[in-house]
Amino acid sequence: MTHYSFSNTQVLVLAAGKGTRMRSAKPKVLHELLGKSMLEHVLISLEALDVGGIAIVTGHGSKQVQDTINAQHDVSWVLQAEQLGTGHAVQQCQDVCADAEHVLIVCGDTPLLQTNTLAKMLTEHVHSSSDISLLSAFQENPYGYGRIVRDEQGNMLKVVEERDANDDIQAIQEVSSGIFCVRQSVLFELLKEVDNDNEQAEYYLPSILPLAVQKAYSVQSCMMDDANEMLGINDRTQLRNAAKILQNRVILDWEKQGVTIEQPETVRIDVSVHIGMDTLIRAGTQLLGHTHVGDGCDIGPYAVINSAWVDDDVNVDAFSHVDHAHISMHGKVGPYARLRPEAHLDEGVKIGNFVEIKKAVIGKGSKVNHLSYIGDTQMGQDCNIGAGSITCNYDGANKHQTIIGDHVFVGSGTRLIAPVEVNDGATLGAGSIITRDVNPDGLTLSVRSEQRYVKNWQRPEKK
Ligand code: UD1
Ligand code: CA
Repeated sequence: MTHYSFSNTQVLVLAAGKGTRMRSAKPKVLHELLGKSMLEHVLISLEALDVGGIAIVTGHGSKQVQDTINAQHDVSWVLQAEQLGTGHAVQQCQDVCADAEHVLIVCGDTPLLQTNTLAKMLTEHVHSSSDISLLSAFQENPYGYGRIVRDEQGNMLKVVEERDANDDIQAIQEVSSGIFCVRQSVLFELLKEVDNDNEQAEYYLPSILPLAVQKAYSVQSCMMDDANEMLGINDRTQLRNAAKILQNRVILDWEKQGVTIEQPETVRIDVSVHIGMDTLIRAGTQLLGHTHVGDGCDIGPYAVINSAWVDDDVNVDAFSHVDHAHISMHGKVGPYARLRPEAHLDEGVKIGNFVEIKKAVIGKGSKVNHLSYIGDTQMGQDCNIGAGSITCNYDGANKHQTIIGDHVFVGSGTRLIAPVEVNDGATLGAGSIITRDVNPDGLTLSVRSEQRYVKNWQRPEKK
């Protein structure tokens, strides 16, 4: 990624609003698209700019917002106790901005914004020695956005909000992204004069524009290349639409990196996922969280993989669920398999249909092919676990370990009552109930109940 430096610029992210239109108990900016909150998306594109500092203005749910963001981002916080408008929000930030020459103001609800666009805007702002720069866009459907009003010479005069706009102004398709870059001294001088004489009785940040024009400060707009980047999210429909645009971006990126994605409109790939070259992602598959998929893998259809590590040349077949697990090279999982947290498959392991693995190491080349539950287990190399065999790891109060050596063959339908250890090379007879440690090699089986034959048995008939 290109590196930019704007060390004399302080960034403010406005995120104090309630987000009434989301109808949610959660603050709006914490709603997620492809595994990250809107606010995090905004922060990630800002962090690549190398600015003097980033401050976030919070109000509604401020504790929740801070707790979510603080662990991963180096930001400062400004409280706007009462939400009296975007201009009022910026006014709360005078102290944080004291040492900066310029202030870049962005909203926390525009997650599609990209670093290059902001860098272009800042560069133009600095080079033209402008006092106020506004990032604008042409919107086919401008509904909801502030419209940019110009005079006959094309000079920008003001921004009028949807609610304050008459029919003529509503017809304007050039809109404000809400993103401003302003000379610090000018910003706070003008904000003092902003009033709340509008439909919402709020102190609007865009109201600094007409004041600046009056005082002959230089104002300019910077047009976005891709109007989608400024999409502001106020409700769930806009959230869905933005997620779709973002998903398309992510998919195009991976295609450029040599990944094939079948029926992409059915696939979900989170932004923090990695996918290797020549991997095939089949329809309906979801790659979530911090999942890593290596080169040459074949995933899905309809696999769900959440924050798991999948090495090169792995096949995760249809309808398999892999959660916080590790699959080493040449592994084969599914169809219909479930790997739960801390399942660790060594190289070349095969896990078949209706098998559940939890907190267990499966050694190199071992196979668990049908209808098994393996939990709290340490298994060696080249074992074969027969159909329907399970580890009985839970006594109702505590979990117990099962240890299985190398080259162990477990006959079908065996129950291993943990804690128990099966040594190298042992064979367990089908249907055995193993309650004590098993010697290496040889055959171990539990005593089976006697088989009987009732010759004249009549099947019951339906009445
Ligand atoms: C805002 C702009 C509009 C622009 C649009 C772009 C204003 C008055 N309007 O409208 O010109 O076209 O964004 O998406 O600036 N916030 C606070 N404190 C407040 C009020 C809002 O921090 O007191 C935050 C909100 O949390 C939100 C952002 O500011 O992240 C924008 O507020 P919002 O209510 O979404 O404004 P819009 O109506 O979308
Ligand atoms: Ca908004």
